[in-house]
Amino acid sequence: MTPVVSGFSKLSKDQKINWLVTHHFNNDHNTIDILKTYWNSDEKLQKLHDEFAENTISNYYLPFSVAPNFLINGQRYTIPMAIEESSVVAAASKAAKFWQNRGGFTAEVPSTTKVGQVHFTYSGDRTRLKAFFNRIKSDLISSASHITKNMEKRGGGILDVVLRDKSSEIENYYQLHCTFDTVDAMGANFINSCLEQFADFLTKASMTCKDVLNTGEHIEIIMSILSNYVPECLVKASVSCLVKELPSTEELTSLQYAQKFVRAVQIAKIEPYRAVTHNKGIMNGIDAVVLATGNDFRAIEAGAHAYASKDGNYTSLTNAIIDNDIFHFSIQIPLALGTVGGLTSLHPLVKLSLHLLGNPNAKKLMEITAVAGLAQNFAAINSLITTGIQQGHMKMHLMNILNQFRATEQEKKQVVEYFKTNTVTHNEVVTQIKKLRSQIAK
Ligand code: MEV
Repeated sequence: MTPVVSGFSKLSKDQKINWLVTHHFNNDHNTIDILKTYWNSDEKLQKLHDEFAENTISNYYLPFSVAPNFLINGQRYTIPMAIEESSVVAAASKAAKFWQNRGGFTAEVPSTTKVGQVHFTYSGDRTRLKAFFNRIKSDLISSASHITKNMEKRGGGILDVVLRDKSSEIENYYQLHCTFDTVDAMGANFINSCLEQFADFLTKASMTCKDVLNTGEHIEIIMSILSNYVPECLVKASVSCLVKELPSTEELTSLQYAQKFVRAVQIAKIEPYRAVTHNKGIMNGIDAVVLATGNDFRAIEAGAHAYASKDGNYTSLTNAIIDNDIFHFSIQIPLALGTVGGLTSLHPLVKLSLHLLGNPNAKKLMEITAVAGLAQNFAAINSLITTGIQQGHMKMHLMNILNQFRATEQEKKQVVEYFKTNTVTHNEVVTQIKKLRSQIAK
């Protein structure tokens, strides 16, 4: 069994690697080579990355790609995407190109309210707690003025603090439900600092307001934390065109295509097994932009899926209808994104991504990101209702299979040529490589 290690975080990078190689890799020095291959030769840049997280021993690469031709609210964008799944960027680019000739995407952000809560218990009479809260509310909010000063200068700050009685669900449980506008910052640190200040103020005030709260009526803070459920930090994006402008194939007229497309979205509306995969496809596009722009994709994922089940059933985040011979396709999704703070000014590729997008404010980035999700979903449904998903997917995956078999550049060229007119399957690729190699051996 691997021995317990103490003080690991205090070891140097080399010492950490040596420990790892000794205890997990049977002293195989090849492991050291692999880890070091991914170190950046620019020591300053490497140090920057080392300091993003604890116990960093190497860098983990993801492809950094771009999807051009996105027309959004009349402006053209090339969208940066960090993702490993082979077909995602190709699909986004294809959808962008398709819609740029049909008016492009429109997007808007109706609200950007974020939420945080102080969760606490109180064992006394609820009307006295209410009276106490009403008395202290404005002082409680101003107690955070040292934290909110700069945010207010930028046009944001605390929007409201409300006392919520949850004691019917958990005995003695109440919340301060706090709303914030964090402008262009994702705002997690700002919100959490305000909440911890409120918690502190609440505790201290409860000890001094003895004319309202009875002695022994104790407020106990359980925790103070922002919520990643942000149904009011919302973005809407859509596309529309005449039904006759939609693709048609030998098997499907444009109208049949539109009807099949709408049916596919309806299925994702009512069938959770399909909805999860449907939304996963949307998140392929969204996460890739979120990562490239240095935002927190776990927060975005959690918020998006919670929103998808806000009415009690997990459902599609997109909607499609045909109305008066016009096909409408749209998405509504909460995206708490930031373009200042966090990694945005630190990570060189994040800075580059934001530059590529014209240094957008948070609202614009929300719009662009939602569009990437909608485009991805359009591309996925388009494939699913026509050729099936595997044709495009395997075409993009072909290079991965060739690399698995350490194909030479010449072999790659020949196999890619073969699959221009043949269906890619794992088996068929292997057969082709073997065939080429046996020909050479003869
Ligand atoms: C694959 O990563 C995503 C899809 O499964 C999405 C979908 O089914 O809509 C293609």
